[in-house]
Amino acid sequence: MTFLALALAASAQGSYVPAPENLAAREKFQDARFGIFIHWGIYSMLGDGEWVMNNQKIPYQEYARFAGGFYPSKFNAEEWIKIFKQAGAKYMTITSRHHDGFSMFKSNASSYNIVDATPFKRDILKELSEACAKNDFTLNFYYSHLDWSRIDYWPREHTGNLVGRPEGDENSWGHYVDFMCAQLTELLTQYGPIGCIWFDGMWDRHRGLPDQAELWQLKRQYELIHKLQPACLIGNNHHLPIFEGEDIQIFEKDVPGKNTAGFSASSKVSDQVPLETCQTIYHSWGYDVNDYNYKSPDELIRFLVQTAGKGANLLLNVGPRPDGTLPEESVNRLLAIGKWLEKHGDTIYGTDGGCVPEQPWGVTTQSGKTLYVHVLNHADAILVPLKGNKLVSAVTFEDGQKVPFTQVSEGIVLSLPAKPENCPDQIVTLTFKNAL
Ligand code: GLC
Repeated sequence: MTFLALALAASAQGSYVPAPENLAAREKFQDARFGIFIHWGIYSMLGDGEWVMNNQKIPYQEYARFAGGFYPSKFNAEEWIKIFKQAGAKYMTITSRHHDGFSMFKSNASSYNIVDATPFKRDILKELSEACAKNDFTLNFYYSHLDWSRIDYWPREHTGNLVGRPEGDENSWGHYVDFMCAQLTELLTQYGPIGCIWFDGMWDRHRGLPDQAELWQLKRQYELIHKLQPACLIGNNHHLPIFEGEDIQIFEKDVPGKNTAGFSASSKVSDQVPLETCQTIYHSWGYDVNDYNYKSPDELIRFLVQTAGKGANLLLNVGPRPDGTLPEESVNRLLAIGKWLEKHGDTIYGTDGGCVPEQPWGVTTQSGKTLYVHVLNHADAILVPLKGNKLVSAVTFEDGQKVPFTQVSEGIVLSLPAKPENCPDQIVTLTFKNAL
């Protein structure tokens, strides 16, 4: 989308007027197309995903003791960023605090954090922010609205009810929101420019719309973020249509518009802000020793192509081990994606979702006068239902081989060459007379 189109679209969103640097950041975000998600916390020590505290009903005071044994001796921020860059990613989003309530950064608002509560005593967000700055890589922070450890997260609703916390009182909720604002201030003042604050967990306390926004005091939080860093984008994985003040829309485990994973029944796709889909490499987000449900490299590449076809970014998750290393199975997949992007990145980075919507054969992306036809399901001939623009040339992206075509009343029929071996995505480049 052009800068102007984004600006016009954004101005239609209630009374929130994004700053010019915010609009520029949206454009940069959208061009990036691929980021790495990191779910890392003291839960990684249990090797059972990031929900382990809730799922195993671990008493909150006992769970907190895990912090005393957290010592990721092999953590090296530079090495992580090097791998993410090799993967072709342009940004990373890391859990600064997940639902367990443990902060992975030095916080004066809570001593339950990686510097004050672990023998490791290093602020990994600080180290990552320095490595990102040095390597021109964007750093985003995931921040959980939901908290299973704090007493002031009260009243409770759907989750975290079986970990033994005492009840709060009528002052709790206000106190909790103050605490979150204090932490958000720390995150936005001590780690340099932050690309995005990525909220999650609001779904724990579901009330009707629009008082959901009121309950969570979203306006207060969003205004604070935009005041501290106007370019910082706000996203919220609430599985609902976007709220005023949000700069991107997030989808979980599905490309925008689909709902196979069951999180997107209520999230109407916005045409006003950039889109992002988050996805796992295996089933869990956090490190899980018993999860062998790996998606293959080709499957992940095809998912990236599908998200790009919808005009969305892919935020692909890795769950580091408790020692700070990234599991090889994940790294191998990241590197395979990087290798593919190195060759085919022009059809993904900086493109828009194609004007031809998803077809039985696959999806399209576009840039200027060029339409990239991503054939994910091979057929000898396919119909690209695009009319009213003269097709100047059709060639394979791989090697520039001419692809025979005819323009018919329903669009363009392409006669595809045989599907090459080991090819997750057969791409045909169509060049038109006029911009799409
Ligand atoms: C869900 C999960 C959470 C995870 C998030 C990532 O909201 O509850 O654990 O962090 O998805 O999208």
